[in-house]
Parts: sequence; C-alpha cells; structure tokens
Amino acid sequence: MKNRQRAKMPDLDLDYEASRTLRRIRPQILEKIGAADAAHSSYALHVETIDARLAEHWPRLFGLLHQLYGQHYDFYYYLERILLTAVECWLNRPEDLCQLDVRRENDPNWYLSERMVGGSLYVDLFSEDLNKLRDKIPYLKDLGLTYVHLMPLFKDREGNSDGGYAISDYRSVDANLGTMEDLRALAHDFRAVGISLVIDFVFNHTSDDHDWAIRAQEGDREYIDYFHVYPDRTIPDQYERSLREIFPTIRRGNFTWHQGMQSWVWTTFNSFQWDLKYANPEVFRAMVGEMLFLANTGVEILRLDAVAFIWKRMGTTCENLPEAHLLIQAFNAVCRIAAPGLALKSEAIVHPDEVVKYISTEECQISYNPTLMALLWEAIATRETRLLKQSVSHRQHLWAGTVWINYLRGHDDIGWSFDNDDAWAVGINPEDHRNFLNSFYTGTFKGSFAAGVPFQHNTETGDMRVSGTMASLAGLEQALVSKDPQLIDMAVRRIRMLYGVLCSIGGIPLIFLGEEWGMLNDYDYLGDKEKKEDSRWVHRPKMDWSLLKELKKKNSVRAQIFRSLQELFEKRKACPAFNGSQMRLLSTENNHVMSYLRWNEGNLLVVVANFADSKQTVNMRNLRTEGLAHFFKDALSKRSVSTHDTLELEPYELLWLIED
Ligand code: GLC
Ligand code: GLC
Repeated sequence: MKNRQRAKMPDLDLDYEASRTLRRIRPQILEKIGAADAAHSSYALHVETIDARLAEHWPRLFGLLHQLYGQHYDFYYYLERILLTAVECWLNRPEDLCQLDVRRENDPNWYLSERMVGGSLYVDLFSEDLNKLRDKIPYLKDLGLTYVHLMPLFKDREGNSDGGYAISDYRSVDANLGTMEDLRALAHDFRAVGISLVIDFVFNHTSDDHDWAIRAQEGDREYIDYFHVYPDRTIPDQYERSLREIFPTIRRGNFTWHQGMQSWVWTTFNSFQWDLKYANPEVFRAMVGEMLFLANTGVEILRLDAVAFIWKRMGTTCENLPEAHLLIQAFNAVCRIAAPGLALKSEAIVHPDEVVKYISTEECQISYNPTLMALLWEAIATRETRLLKQSVSHRQHLWAGTVWINYLRGHDDIGWSFDNDDAWAVGINPEDHRNFLNSFYTGTFKGSFAAGVPFQHNTETGDMRVSGTMASLAGLEQALVSKDPQLIDMAVRRIRMLYGVLCSIGGIPLIFLGEEWGMLNDYDYLGDKEKKEDSRWVHRPKMDWSLLKELKKKNSVRAQIFRSLQELFEKRKACPAFNGSQMRLLSTENNHVMSYLRWNEGNLLVVVANFADSKQTVNMRNLRTEGLAHFFKDALSKRSVSTHDTLELEPYELLWLIED
C-alpha cells in the first residue's frame, strides 16, 4: 500500500518538504506562544520545547498526512490547521500535565511495569456519579488498581445511546454523572494515589445529535462532508457487497435512511451512530482537537474505540485498511507533539493477525488481547490447552515498548476470534469448535458449567457471540443455584486460576469492576425497552455496595474471590519478571496444563496452570533441560517444588515458581 501511494509522487523529497512546510508555519506557532505567554515569562522555554518535539515528530506526521491527504488541492491549508490546532491544545495543557509529560518522556515504558493492574467501570452503575466515585478511591486502591477505565461518560443521546458510545458532545460530561470539572478533579485525585485515568476516544462515529450531525441534517455541506451520506442506494449497495454486519439483530446492513435528509447515512453500529468520514482532512483536524481536549482533562491512556472501522474503501470489508493504521499513527504523532504523556490503547476485536497490526510505539502502545481472552474461555470449556498454547506460542510475545491488556470480560460480548489455522494445526475444526463454544456458553451444551446468553445471533450465517459476567460464565451462577459446595469450590478455583494467568502471562491484567465480587448476570435488562435487544446489558450489573460487608466474612464466596484477586495483584507487583511481555511456553507433556517462562533483567519465573477440574501431573524434568534451577518456590503458596520430582497439581492449581 505504502509503495503504491508513494509511487504517485516519485519525485517528492518528503524530508525537505516537511521542513519547508514547518518553516512556513513556524511564525504562526511563535505568535500563538507569544499570545499565550503574554502573562508569563516562559516564551523561550516554550519555543525550545515545541521546536524539539517538532524536530523529532513533525517529519513523521507530515509523511503520514501526506499519504492520507496529499492529493487534496488545499493540502497545505489542512497541514497548517492541524499543526496549529495541536499547538493551541498544547498551550492550553495544564501545568501538572506538562510535568507528567516530562516524567513520561523520561520513562516511556511506564505502562510495561509489573505494577500495572487495571479495572474498568460504568460510573453510574458503580458509584452513581463522579463525585461519589472519588469516595471510592480507597476501595480501588485497596483492591490494587493502578489504572481505571471509565466507560463513556460524555453527553450522549436520549434513550438508547449504546451504553454511552453515541456521543453528542466530547467536551461535556453527562449531567447525571457530573461536570468536566468533576472529571478533572477525579483525574487529579487518581494521579495523586498512582491511578492512571483511562477514557474512551470514540472516534469512529458521533451520535446523530452531535452538533456536526445536526448541521449536516440542516443541509450544511461542510458538515454533510463529515459523514458518509448518499442520496440513494447506488453507492451503499456497492459497498454493502463486501461489508459484514456488526449488530445484525438490531438492524440489517450498514446504512440508515434519514428521512429529513432524504439520504442514506453510514452507520456501522447502531442507526444513531454516524461513522465519521476521515477521508475529509477537516474531520481529522476536528478530532485532533477533541482528542487533545480529552488529554488535557488528565486522561493518561486513551482507549481508541472500534479502530478497525475508521477508513472505508469500495470493494473491501472496510475493516483494518492500511489507511486506518496511517490515521492512528497520525493521531499518535500529534500526541507526541502536544501531549506526550498520553498513551493510546487499541480496541480491535478482529482476527489476531489484524489485532497486532495496531500495536507499535508509533501507533497504539497498548492493545486489548481478545484472542487470549477467547482462548482462556475455550480452554476451561474443553479442559484442554492445545489451542491456547498453539496461539500463545506465536502470538503472545510483543515487541519492546508495547503491551497487552489481558482480560476475561469487558462490557462487550465474547467472539471466538481465534485463527482457523491455529485450530487446524492442533486438529480442531474451527467452525465446529465455534458452534460447540457457543452452545457451551449459552447453556445448550449438556454438562456445561456456564450461564451465558447469545448476542447477535445471525440466523443467516449462524454467527453468534456470547454475553455473561465473568462469574456466571465461569460456573459460579450455576454452582450457587445448585448450592453444591463442591461446584462452588470448583468455580472459585477456576476463577482464581484464570486471573493468575492474566496477571502473569505478559501485559496488564484488567478486570471489569464487579468481577472481584463474582457478580452474577443481571437479567433485569429484559424489562427495559431501550436495553432488551442488547444482551450485553446482562453483564453490566449495578454494583451492590450493601454486599461490601460480606468481604469481611471468612467463608463468603465473594470474599474468597476478592481476596484471591487482591493477593494476585499484590504478588504480581512483587515479581519483576512480570515486567514487559517476554515469555516462552514450556513443555509439560500434559494437554490440560499450560506452563511458561517469564523473564526480565535476570529475573525468572515459571508459571504452571492446570485448566482441568481434575488432578494432573507434570514431569518437571523438562525444566531442567531448559537449564533452570533444581529447586523452586511458589510465590503464591510458598510451596517448594523440585525439578527431580513429578509435580502433582490440584484441579485448577496455579503456581508462580521462582528459583529457590
Ligand atoms: C466498541 C465498544 C462497543 C460499542 C462499539 C460502538 O466496540 O466497545 O461497546 O458498541 O464500539 O461504539
Ligand atoms: C464487533 C466489533 C467490536 C465491537 C463489538 C461490539 O466485534 O469488531 O469493535 O466491540 O462488535 O459488540
């Protein structure tokens, strides 16, 4: 792709053009600094800072924008607008965040640390509003979190707003939750106790009542051009031939008829979520402004929502296109110039080969790990680790400076997005296996421990995804209903083992708040007309704080789960081998067990995890042939293990072995 685009401009000397353009724009930059500094005496320092950052990052940004927008006759105009928008936002950046920028520039790998532990939550469901969330900071600290992702909390449309993912205004907080000032205060308080604030940048689409969409509806051509709008079905039909449907049970196709505009509008998700048209450079510029506004509230990690969909080209699936990567890299370069303390996290829930393409220090430094998520569920359903190991063997390790977010559940559904060839490689028919997993997790497979609900069952293609809370899918719901202490014990062990893997396999473990109490499915959404078509609400229960007192009871299931998580987080932070993502699988000669080596700067750790509900044995001699020590101690139980023996594992046992 790059080559094809470059070939159009064979004679262009990009570095020369980049510096020539910067020379032309620089007087305006100096003017802006001068105006901002009228009251201060830091003019020289500001000039020095921006000159240094532009020297480092402008050529890259220029090259990216040139590839994306170089063919526009008024390209220079946009370059100027984009750069000046970035500079203006940087000049508005509060002093404490500028200091954070400096700290992060000196420690660019801060998010690789073993100390990172994440949680995500809906403010209304967790604590009602932002101020009450500030009161919960001691709870979040006590649990061990250092990263808290607040689900979209901006002004959104009335009625169904896709859980806040249909944003009407990126610059105001939903009045029920608080104000921008409250958000800034929260970010500040979080930072004071070592918690990084994470917020979504919902940049693929706006709500149909965002100011830009309203102006488009009023017929303003400048704004119609912010979206993909077509007078009839000719072009939509041509696109539709190669598109998939994301929410087929809610609406067929990817376009929505707008009565007022007498036009079809591109809406990948719900009909009220209008996809932005990034082929228009003004959209990129406007979104740079929104992104940096968010950064300046004190957000440290931005979750880039639905990255796969942001660029469209006729005749393709319009997912994961090369331009989508160029665009995100351009956002990244803007951040390095105007808010270098900020890291970007990719939400690409697509084929694993595509997921990794978003991950790099120049694109998204952080990424969800949906393949690991799906395969952990696969492994506890089958009690087999073959497919998990096959995938992990070549997909888990990431390059320097980047990191996975490892999670079991989030606010979305589970899709079985593992690679078909990985399945075939271990003798598994991928399609049959997906059908099995769907029936296992939605309760139609006899003997399944899981209580889940189908999501977006497409009767034409047979596709289905799964909803359900971590605890309900892991067997706790059924076990509690049956009141069988053995089943309850199994569910609790299973849960602990899964988190033990999340905490140790390389990357940041992330929980969805409520998981630490083993919150079960909440079926009340079926009685709410705005929610009943979207089964993801089953796993978004309201936090029931009256249960907090249970955490003090010794035998309570909730307390057991809470304590296991707390302990895993605490011990993870004490294991320097968990920094970064260096890992290698170790042979166990046992299909029910997964074992891997983690290392970092001379610190070694061997993880052994039993995915079966039965006892297993592992021949430890393999560790010796790896050249490791003869004696280990389990960092979790303090149990000693010798590589001379056969290791006996209890059901779902998990060991973090450190050389003794
Ligand atoms: C992301 C969100 C999901 C939402 C979609 C549309 O994938 O995680 O909840 O429905 O984007 O914004
Ligand atoms: C699809 C999208 C993902 C989104 C999800 C919502 O899987 O790829 O981005 O989160 O749908 O259900």
